Amino acid sequence: MKFFIDTANIDDITEANALGILDGVTTNPSLMAKEGITGQQNILNHYIDICNIVDGPVSAEVIATDFEGMVSEGEHLSGLHKNIVVKVPMTLEGIKAIKHFSSKGIKTNCTLIFSAGQALIAAKAGASYVSPFLGRLDDISSNGLDLIAQIRLIYDNYAYDTEILAASVRHPMHIIHCAEIGSDVMTGPLKAIKALANHPLTTSGLEQFLADHAKGNS
Ligand code: G3P
Repeated sequence: MKFFIDTANIDDITEANALGILDGVTTNPSLMAKEGITGQQNILNHYIDICNIVDGPVSAEVIATDFEGMVSEGEHLSGLHKNIVVKVPMTLEGIKAIKHFSSKGIKTNCTLIFSAGQALIAAKAGASYVSPFLGRLDDISSNGLDLIAQIRLIYDNYAYDTEILAASVRHPMHIIHCAEIGSDVMTGPLKAIKALANHPLTTSGLEQFLADHAKGNS
């Protein structure tokens, strides 16, 4: 499973990249605003900065909501750097834009996916990735993991190339369950990625090894 980090924070991206297990980055307008990145040129420069850190797909989301606006904005974003994937919201205008980008060889990430039907039409339009938001479904007492499994089944039935990018991942168990289901990618915060490495028996075992080594060499 590919690991993307879901943030626009340069320090977190740099730290995750240094682990050597990072495959890409996802951002969205809220994450950019959280980092205080405002103004069109600053936003574009920030995407380039991220692309220069991580050698993998970097999702940059369009703000336009109409087909023509999405096409114009997406083509501009795509021209910024070879790593850019144009993130397009799941709307009918977005589906038309994804079809357009797909026909031009521009990679897309269809975002705000909350149902299997949405994932199906995004794949038919040629989306490179779909982003089902599993944490936000869990938040409303729905089951985000069930949706990932349903999309996996549908895509496998028809051998769609669209990759399932599990988004709105909140904690390490989300990551593990996504891997069990066969999600192609997960995008989550640095904290959830780092938590995968933790186990109390690893910590205590290492302390014991080091203590025994120190005793034998004192
Ligand atoms: O990739 C989508 C993601 O940013 C949404 O996460 O935690 O805001 O639901 P969250």
